Amino acid sequence: MAYLSQEVFEAEMRHVFPSSWILVADQDDVAKAGDYVTATVGNEPVLVVRDINGRINAFANVCPHRGTSLAAGMGNCEGRFECPYHGWTFNSAGVLQSIPGRKGFNGQLAEKNLNLRPLKLNVWERSIFVNIDESAPALSSYLGSVPELFINHDLADLKPQTTIRNTVNMNWKLLVDNALDDYHLPLVHADTLQPSLEGMKLKEKIRERYSSILCMPLNDLGKQESSPKPGLGPEQSKSTYAIDIFPNLTIIGMPNGNINTLQFNPITVASTSVIFRSYSHSVKSENLEEKEFMSKVLNEDYRIIDRVMEGVKSRYFKPGPAHYLEGRIANFHSTLLSLLGKQSDLTDLLNSDEHAEQP
Ligand code: FES
Ligand SMILES: [Fe+2]
Repeated sequence: MAYLSQEVFEAEMRHVFPSSWILVADQDDVAKAGDYVTATVGNEPVLVVRDINGRINAFANVCPHRGTSLAAGMGNCEGRFECPYHGWTFNSAGVLQSIPGRKGFNGQLAEKNLNLRPLKLNVWERSIFVNIDESAPALSSYLGSVPELFINHDLADLKPQTTIRNTVNMNWKLLVDNALDDYHLPLVHADTLQPSLEGMKLKEKIRERYSSILCMPLNDLGKQESSPKPGLGPEQSKSTYAIDIFPNLTIIGMPNGNINTLQFNPITVASTSVIFRSYSHSVKSENLEEKEFMSKVLNEDYRIIDRVMEGVKSRYFKPGPAHYLEGRIANFHSTLLSLLGKQSDLTDLLNSDEHAEQP
């Protein structure tokens, strides 16, 4: 089964993530010169840092000496990164600064480029994306219609509010499937999300290669919860939007102009790091009520995905028919399969019934 196959997981890490635009940081994470964030894209360790000229750079987080990962976590590099192995140093623009015991290299250093390896980085509003593939088309074309939807949201003015980080023992695709599953809300989220949507018809707006957009009109109860941001169109003022950006990012846009993001970063075939972040126009500090509510929603999802993890292990599992509110899942799998399908060594595995995974 492709949700549990180590071979498919490795192919996803080698071929899918490195050829996709992956969200690696928020502009606020690297607000000041020297601020840095590390991330992993597929198998690639990545370092994002703001240099002293204010430019945001992405580099392979790999020391050009013997490959040690240069930086860990996030923080401020205070002007330079020092490799923890032999002490080579690099400035925030990735340029090699010093090598302890330089003479001992017997003149081999002169003709080599020993700076950090730059990676392709594009910024959309406040979100910093990296693509490992040098020939990848620009982020703006990858995002398709998504930026247009947020044109009046003033995303740059939003303040980070609540962050929830969970590590869960689930395959990343089951979490993405669930985020794209617009059919599970009435039962799984009966007491949390559903009351604001009861009686309303969810509408898929856009289905593109790397993105899809679902519009969820709010009922009177939902509309009471927040007043619409001035400048949003008639539909946006009355609806929540769920936007999927391939492969592992969901953005929720709300009528009050606030947004939530949900990202699923694979760790192993059966474990994933989940990061929920909310951004608000009005509230700057962490909102504990929202944190509690969102933790409850996430736990409702984890409980059901756990049950799916159990079931898909079975030899008797074959995907059944798909409801129209599961259409975005099919879209995600079709892009995924088209990227994996280029790998001839996987063709048999992906095509066999036993390993089929499309809904
Ligand atoms: S591996 Fe980085 S200085 Fe040697
Ligand atoms: Fe859910």
